[in-house]
Amino acid sequence: MKKVITYGTYDLLHYGHIALLERAKALGDYLIVGVTSDAFDKNRGKLNVQQSVVERIEAVKKTGLADEIIIEEYEGQKISDIKKYNVDIFAIGSDWQGKFDYLNEYCQVVYLKRTEGVSSTALRETQNPIVKIGLVGLANPTERIIQESLYVSGMEITAAYNSHVAEASAICEKYNIELYSDLENMLQNVDAVYINSLLPEHVTLIEKALNNECHVLCESPIFMNKSDADRLFDLAEKKQKILFEAIKTIFFPAFEHLMLIVNSGTIGSIRDIEVSCSHIPEDLNEIKNEKYKGSMYDWGSIALIPIIKILGTEYEYCTMFDYEKAGFNYFVRGLLKYKNATAVFKVGKGIKTEGQMIITGTKGYIYVPAPWWKTDYFEIRYEDLRSTKKYFYRYEGEGFRYELLEFIKMINQNRRESYLYSQKEIKSIVGIIEQFEKEEVEKLNS
Ligand code: CTP
Repeated sequence: MKKVITYGTYDLLHYGHIALLERAKALGDYLIVGVTSDAFDKNRGKLNVQQSVVERIEAVKKTGLADEIIIEEYEGQKISDIKKYNVDIFAIGSDWQGKFDYLNEYCQVVYLKRTEGVSSTALRETQNPIVKIGLVGLANPTERIIQESLYVSGMEITAAYNSHVAEASAICEKYNIELYSDLENMLQNVDAVYINSLLPEHVTLIEKALNNECHVLCESPIFMNKSDADRLFDLAEKKQKILFEAIKTIFFPAFEHLMLIVNSGTIGSIRDIEVSCSHIPEDLNEIKNEKYKGSMYDWGSIALIPIIKILGTEYEYCTMFDYEKAGFNYFVRGLLKYKNATAVFKVGKGIKTEGQMIITGTKGYIYVPAPWWKTDYFEIRYEDLRSTKKYFYRYEGEGFRYELLEFIKMINQNRRESYLYSQKEIKSIVGIIEQFEKEEVEKLNS
């Protein structure tokens, strides 16, 4: 019996896929189809796949052409599959011409002519027209967002608003972005905005964007008080638009997995979380009169994310020690008390500490080394050190692409809540920012 194997993502299965499977099958007597896992596609930078692996397998199954379906999970798996299943022929579309010649050592490699005029990419684009995004504010990290947006299909950064046109023209020219000095004018020419400005400006900007029928992705902290959050989330609902806070940490593959492990009870019940973020910026002297560039505004939401996501939104109280120098908040140590757990966060701007995270459970703990907020690695440790488990998850670029992707998916699916960061969680963190803003803190001046 001649065995043939072929691989693909098979997103939104189309006649090009079916034609390939038919011809692959005709090369032998038994066809094995490898369908990529969601994590494998994500890892190799294919971020735009619409259907889950379960849906894609189901579609391949329905063609009736596959005698066996397997999941492709890692690089290098093809060699091991060919040996394991005693494969005679490896077949793949001609878009891969030459790329799999190395498999000739293990079986015959056949490139089949690709069907013209159809692809999953094209189908995704017809299903969901490209989302045109306008930038509001061009300070850090906007340029990195522009660079990473090039890897996210389904969106394009087409415009930017800056009242000081001269300042912004270089970056806009570099990336071929149209620069507007009038916000309303820009809003009429885009579908969504990415807001990166000082916290007190967020409310007005978000409101304007929503009233101009634009979706909004806004840097954290998104609001300085809960009533603004309630009001504008209601407006977004009324307008049927997405309003979302940009915190890239949540979407890092390692962080996503860490949350699943914690929720699965592997380290028992969680009793404490310790989390720190700090940074000494080069321009510290220039910004130290700017209240909203202080540590709590810069890092607060990021540090609170794992606490609120793991221990929940129902903390009993939060105590904060606010270290200030000439009115600039350079360090905060906060304590959250829950019914059966505690959490400590430390945030610093112009002071340095170890940026790690430790999640303490009744059976063991999770250690995430610095910088935990853009982690690719963590360990689960138990009393017996030999039981330590180490996890590594690669991420692409600086991680912004995952957050952009979630935003675009929310728009396309008209899903106003993210599975990974709910409105309730956003509002709970806004509540702590509000407490800090109202100076319900213990102050230490130096
Ligand atoms: N294929 C084909 N003809 C097409 C599209 C795909 O023969 N018009 C083949 C590919 O060469 C591959 C298999 O179908 O062997 C699975 O391809 P896949 O990457 O899943 O599909 P694409 O439509 O190419 O997806 P994308 O646009 O996301 O790259």
